[in-house]
Amino acid sequence: MLVLGIESSCDETGAAIVKDGRYLLSNVVASQIDIHNRYGGVVPEVASRQQLASIIPVIETALEQAECGWEDLDAIGATYGPGLAGSLLVGLTVGKTLAMAYNVPFLGVNHLEAHIYANWLRQLDDTNTQPDDDAGEFLADDPTFPLLCLVISGAHSELVLVRSHGHYELLGRTKDDAAGEAFDKVARVLGLDYPGGPSIQKAAQQAVEELQQAGKPLSLANSTYRLPRAWLRGTYDFSFSGLKTAVLHLAEGATANQRVPTTSEAKGGKKQVSKYTSMGLSAQKGGLNVPLLAASFQEAVVDVLAVKTRLAAQEYHVKQVLLAGGVAANVALRSRLERELRPLNIRLNYPAVAFCTDNAAMIASAAFFHLMHGERHGLDLDVQPGLSLPFRQKK
Ligand code: KG4
Ligand code: ZN
Repeated sequence: MLVLGIESSCDETGAAIVKDGRYLLSNVVASQIDIHNRYGGVVPEVASRQQLASIIPVIETALEQAECGWEDLDAIGATYGPGLAGSLLVGLTVGKTLAMAYNVPFLGVNHLEAHIYANWLRQLDDTNTQPDDDAGEFLADDPTFPLLCLVISGAHSELVLVRSHGHYELLGRTKDDAAGEAFDKVARVLGLDYPGGPSIQKAAQQAVEELQQAGKPLSLANSTYRLPRAWLRGTYDFSFSGLKTAVLHLAEGATANQRVPTTSEAKGGKKQVSKYTSMGLSAQKGGLNVPLLAASFQEAVVDVLAVKTRLAAQEYHVKQVLLAGGVAANVALRSRLERELRPLNIRLNYPAVAFCTDNAAMIASAAFFHLMHGERHGLDLDVQPGLSLPFRQKK
């Protein structure tokens, strides 16, 4: 079954053709990062206009790269939430219109669920996993249920027990900032580029390289700045706002040492700029070592995510853990979790970096598994910006 997936929930416009929910024929993403980097974050109005400009060329390119025509498609899936309303509306409207025009089934896809399904994706030319004529819900190389999934994106951080396709139980979630949001805000404080995750990862790597060159112990990369961890013991919940504030205070301290405000600034006479933006620029000039602070921050986030995930995997006796969402691209998290789980014989899976961040291949994959259950959506389906995973009661 060939599915065209369409993704437009935030600042990435994606279209992909995926066979049987797993095999990639094409995956095209138009990113707006350069535009939003100017503002230090996503500007919703700008994002939706860019979606409109990119969506048709992106879909046409996906069809071309997959060497398939409209008549080859069996269904269309598009994200309907969660995300920015204006951006979601573009992809959902285009998806429904195309499904009507070409008379194929349409399915609205939950973006968070799709992040989980990125773990089912593989290359078409992967010799061990050639498509099967009657590919169904379960194939040999698929992740095996029950499994634990850590869903960590720009707006969500959730630890989810997945008992089977579509059966989700919530074990824990963030009480305040999402992990990705913490990376983005801290990057802004430190004057690093948007999105913050990759910038902090790069700065942390730089810290390690500088220590290596100086012949100093690498452990200094994670411990030079002592940052707090919110363990919230006895729960699988997370909290990252205290950590973010601790970094902000360090940066503020550095700024205060560096510069005394003029009288008119002190009276609020100067035009207000974002606290984070102004901090970032000054923090680099202050006494802070940005790479070392980035490394310490990354370590604090990874520490909590990895330990809590390992504890939940043990309590629920799963044999497999999946990472999903943009923060799953983080190299330090992947290797730390690998180290936590290997001695317990628990397998860790994560998508290739391109399928951790927003993409349409994961949308096509999630759509396939719903279509296999005979699900369809009508053309009256509306966007749901606040959509969450469809959790069931814990057993
Ligand atoms: O899943 P995603 O692409 O979009 C949402 O659905 O939110 O996640 C974006 C988030 C951003 O906060 C970004 O900073 C973070 O994922 N991210 C990373 C890395 N790459 C992206 N965080 C940590 N390390 C990375 N390498
Ligand atoms: Zn996402």
